[in-house]
Amino acid sequence: MNRKNIGVAFIGGGEVSILHGRAIQLAARRGDARLVGLWNRTQSTAKRRADEEGCRVYETPVALVSDPEVDAVFILTNLETHLEYAKLAMEAGKDVLVEKPLCANTREIREMISIAERTGRICFPGHNMIYESGMARTRRLMMDGHLGDLVSCYVLYNIYHSDERASTLPGVIRQLLTHNLYTLMYCTGQRPLETVAMKANRNHRGQPEKEDLAMVLYRMESGGLAHLNVSFAADDLSPAPWTYTMKLIGTAGCGHYTYQDWVEVKKGISHSHTYTAYQDTITNEVDAFLAIVRDGSGTPVSGLADALWAQTALEAVETSIASGRRVPITVD
Ligand SMILES: NC(=O)c1ccc[n+]([C@@H]2O[C@H](COP(=O)([O-])OP(=O)(O)OC[C@H]3O[C@@H](n4cnc5c(N)ncnc54)[C@H](O)[C@@H]3O)[C@@H](O)[C@H]2O)c1
Repeated sequence: MNRKNIGVAFIGGGEVSILHGRAIQLAARRGDARLVGLWNRTQSTAKRRADEEGCRVYETPVALVSDPEVDAVFILTNLETHLEYAKLAMEAGKDVLVEKPLCANTREIREMISIAERTGRICFPGHNMIYESGMARTRRLMMDGHLGDLVSCYVLYNIYHSDERASTLPGVIRQLLTHNLYTLMYCTGQRPLETVAMKANRNHRGQPEKEDLAMVLYRMESGGLAHLNVSFAADDLSPAPWTYTMKLIGTAGCGHYTYQDWVEVKKGISHSHTYTAYQDTITNEVDAFLAIVRDGSGTPVSGLADALWAQTALEAVETSIASGRRVPITVD
């Protein structure tokens, strides 16, 4: 492999491929990577996205993973298809970056882990939100003991999504909660052991089967508590808004991160404004992935074990909502 100029291909040409496309364009300017081509289920979308990116279109996923110019494949389809395409790519000898949530359930994640081990390929979960210096600083301060014992951690998402956009996505628990969970585990250095949760539909009444709001409490390993909130129901336009916000309070200090520190007054792809940090989280994540592929070694700061724990904690939330009870979280 030409380890300097890594050949990348996308399986999936939907909204998130636009963010990954921008990240690869920046890497291409440095000569670190190039987008060789993409495949999308709807060929007209594939053609449009390939024209925008200046790359080739593949007729099938098999043709894509068979291209010797492709070193790494980004799996950017809906979550139910991640395992199928990641397996295809890894078995063809390609490293993969797989969008969150990694898979539809924990059984599939275990299978993905075993395929990565068997093939020796890099399988990198798309846990983009933590690839930011403010997140990394919070973790370092926490892990080095400067913040004392964990008291509480809040990871809150409040960004309105239109009916049209929400209709293409699962409810906010499946679509968003993974972000809050890996952020919680990364910043605190701890895993959640017990949960109780509620959900609601407040502003997408035409899609009553999907929640557009969920609030979750977790008890963490040390006994500290966490509050996670995921919402497509409304933007937070108050002073100091909770757009995507992480706050960690320890007995000896605290840490904080928010999208709101950088806002461009123009529409984002699905957002009312452009939260600059959103693109940067993807750009930084892609750079981290490319560095591991280039070196042929290294591990993501939030890896497959975290993806498995996050999915287990997500499914515990669904059980809590269905039963109205607290649910313990364990991974064998
Ligand atoms: N990391 C982030 O911040 C972020 C943001 C948005 C989406 N995502 C994730 O990215 C993935 C794609 O989301 P999106 O926003 O691009 O969605 P989208 O609806 O815009 O695009 C989904 C893509 O999946 C394809 N697809 C759907 N069903 C398929 C099937 N059965 N076989 C093959 N292809 C199929 C569609 O053709 C489309 O190209 C999801 O896993 C989502 O959770 C991550």
